[in-house]
Amino acid sequence: MSILIRGGKPLKGKVWCDGAKNAALPIMAGAILTDDSVEIKNVPFLLDVETMLSVLRAIGVNAVYSGRSAKMSPGRRLQPEAPYDLVRRMRASFLVMGPLLARCGTAAVPLPGGCAIGQRPVDLHLKGFQAMGATVSVEHGFIIAKANRLKGAEIYLDIPSVGATENIMMAAALADGETVIENAAQEPEVVDLANFLNAMGADIKGGGTTRIRISGVKELHGVEYSIIPDRIEAATFAIAAAMTKGKVTIENVIPTHLRSVLAKIKECGAYIFEGARSIDIEMLQRPEPTNIKTQPYPGFPTDVQAPYMALCTIAAGTSIISETVFENRFAHAEELGRMGARIRIEGPNAVIEGVPRLAGAQVQATDLRAGAALSLAGLAAEGETEVIGTEHIERGYCDFVEKLRGLGADVVSTEASNRFHRGIARP
Ligand code: EPZ
Repeated sequence: MSILIRGGKPLKGKVWCDGAKNAALPIMAGAILTDDSVEIKNVPFLLDVETMLSVLRAIGVNAVYSGRSAKMSPGRRLQPEAPYDLVRRMRASFLVMGPLLARCGTAAVPLPGGCAIGQRPVDLHLKGFQAMGATVSVEHGFIIAKANRLKGAEIYLDIPSVGATENIMMAAALADGETVIENAAQEPEVVDLANFLNAMGADIKGGGTTRIRISGVKELHGVEYSIIPDRIEAATFAIAAAMTKGKVTIENVIPTHLRSVLAKIKECGAYIFEGARSIDIEMLQRPEPTNIKTQPYPGFPTDVQAPYMALCTIAAGTSIISETVFENRFAHAEELGRMGARIRIEGPNAVIEGVPRLAGAQVQATDLRAGAALSLAGLAAEGETEVIGTEHIERGYCDFVEKLRGLGADVVSTEASNRFHRGIARP
């Protein structure tokens, strides 16, 4: 699966952002917490969504996707064991652990796999479950947690982990008593999950702050809920516009969710106008060099680091990127180097000496954000670029090629890359 890009064309026009992948996945897992039917709207058409649907079906939930909605309803009895072949495909599958533990009193989930961005432990998830009274063991590659009745607890997260905050919040929603998560993740997707759970009858306060209080309730009821737009997709298209000296309007976006990214693109010399649910970007010059440091929200998001590095490769000077969230999320640097970028990796820092122009080449995507970064580099490069491994991109970007073509990009996907789209009925 690959995409072919002929670079040099400025992006012009409007692009619509889909729902947030990183809100859809935890919220779909949250549907396990009720025996009623749940409909989640504005769900993007993604490989990762398909994987989460398969995980839910494997544990006994009826889960279907149609017309940009995921619909879950009770199936046979819940099976508290998530299958290895699905969990290893997507780390977010681990988010079923908290809901299963809360509903069934036991949960068995394989140690997660996920995209190639380094060691991805789940110790903070397990610390939370144990604080609520669960016993946790690792047997034959499975993490097994057991608790007759989870009890509210005070839990301090050593790192404001998004997944741990979400998993613990879901487990605590049905626990006995109050749980407090200190140093909680503040990402908009965590807030969306808290809002979804409250719409189901949970009692969660402080979503979006570093201190979240969850008062356990007896049961949760069904709901129809629409998720927030994808701020990472919006950031990716904003960077693409800046890299190609384009003029783009991004629609269905919450500008405050990507304030840090917009601030840096402005520093590069772009003109940005923020509407209520849209962003206008225009770039008339070669980008200025800038330095970024990835941080938990509201800092610069690690998921935008790779696309932003692509922008830095053509800046009129030297930029420094510090990746503080993951320990080795620079795999895309080597592939960008094959297009003529000048990048030196020094531990957690990447030093990027901007060049006037990249040259098209055949490059390999190693994870979804690296795939996006290489595609953006191809849009700005001279000549033709082939990005191989675009199944990674389809994990996190809905209709990526179609959206770029809609902005005037000269890009096509090879035959095979449509394989996924034949897999399930398109919305
Ligand atoms: C979520 O992953 C996102 N995925 C990631 O997006 C995103 O990069 C990440 O948050 C950070 O913002 C989803 O929401 C599905 P973390 P998650 O737990 O929850 C360490 C994308 O491209 N850590 O906040 O797995 C961990 O190793 C994906 O869309 C522990 O040490 O991230 C990492 O260094 C990639 N122990 C840091 O915390 C734990 O128990 C942040 O991880 C958990 C995490």
